[in-house]
Amino acid sequence: MSKADWFTNARFGLFIHWGLYAIPACGEWTYARNKWAPGEYENLINKFNPVEYDPAYWAKLAKAAGMKYVVFTTRHHDGFCMFDSKYTDYKITNTPYGKDVTGMLVEAFRAEGLRIGFYHSLPDWTHHGWSDQESPEYIQNKVMKDVSEEAHRGYLDLLNNHVEQLMTEYGKIDLLFLDYTSQYKADGDYYDRERLLNTIYSNQPDILVDDRLSYFKEDVRDFDYYTPEICVPNQPQQVKGKEVIWETCCTMNDHWGYCNTDFNYKPLNTLTGGLMGCVAKNGNLLLNIGPDAKGNFPEMSIRRLEELAEWSLLNGESVCGAGKSEYQPPFAGCYTQKGNNLYLYLLLQPMGDIILPELKDKIEYICILRTGQTVDLINDWGFELLKPEEQRIRPLNVKAGDVLKIVLKK
Ligand code: GLC
Repeated sequence: MSKADWFTNARFGLFIHWGLYAIPACGEWTYARNKWAPGEYENLINKFNPVEYDPAYWAKLAKAAGMKYVVFTTRHHDGFCMFDSKYTDYKITNTPYGKDVTGMLVEAFRAEGLRIGFYHSLPDWTHHGWSDQESPEYIQNKVMKDVSEEAHRGYLDLLNNHVEQLMTEYGKIDLLFLDYTSQYKADGDYYDRERLLNTIYSNQPDILVDDRLSYFKEDVRDFDYYTPEICVPNQPQQVKGKEVIWETCCTMNDHWGYCNTDFNYKPLNTLTGGLMGCVAKNGNLLLNIGPDAKGNFPEMSIRRLEELAEWSLLNGESVCGAGKSEYQPPFAGCYTQKGNNLYLYLLLQPMGDIILPELKDKIEYICILRTGQTVDLINDWGFELLKPEEQRIRPLNVKAGDVLKIVLKK
């Protein structure tokens, strides 16, 4: 047993990017990338009133979709706290809405049996004790903010205090996604790693902490899990020559935070295929939604969650608790494996028969998870050009996104 077992078993989680940036509705980097008059963005605090926020509904959708945990933006790079910070007035409880949306979310998702993860930003664009090339001043005007040592210490204290509050006031927290250390901070220890980690682990010994407290370098400490993003890696992830626990985060359209002009939603098969692609390399998928300023998931995101629910209901056993397979998948297929069960995900509706490499004489039986139909092994025809270790099978009435369960002989 390791403290990460629940995580590697879960395989699928929900990421939520939500903050003041839902109002301008053009993604969570707007403060840094677009021109804002002094104080203009910060004044959105007087407007944020997500009266339709219903985290119980979100939690039900996520659970039905087969997700086992949630990761919520308690603070993004704009510095605005989505929890009732004891250390700044720039927070959700000072909006017209006035309620601690983080606390509400934790309660709702826990009630559905999902594990709880907090995202917390390391950069704070609005703080005088933080600077970087990836800041509003630099991105827009190539100006580096002058930060005194004392101001930076003040910044680190605030970060540490916030993390401490998050680790002590919301019960058991399963995961912490600290984001991020830029390439310009690759050397040195700008975020005072050991102090933060000590605050975290002394209050939540079983928590999993991601790797973004450092910019990827081989000579830093090990982290609980590693976070590639917006891609499905081609192989199990390795650090210092050893396989590590990992999760990739991807978003349903092309933005993390709500964007009212982005309708480029990925089709269901990209999402299920991406998920299976991660599991097939021993990884997790953290799939993101950016709720709007009223507190709603965008309609298309809800539709995708509902489609995922339908898919998961019948195919979920190929995800949860599964991992990489030792066998080579056939054309346009992807394997996950759980003990003696191999799961073949079909990226495309097949041309007809499927030729399974390496599985001759190894198969007990095969069925289609969506329909329950069994699949015939073809042993008396069409093997002129097959290798002796290949097995031809004939799945009928299958389509892209289906999963064939291949039970191997013991
Ligand atoms: C990148 C984006 C950030 C987002 C994160 C999620 O770091 O800049 O906005 O929160 O990815 O992994």
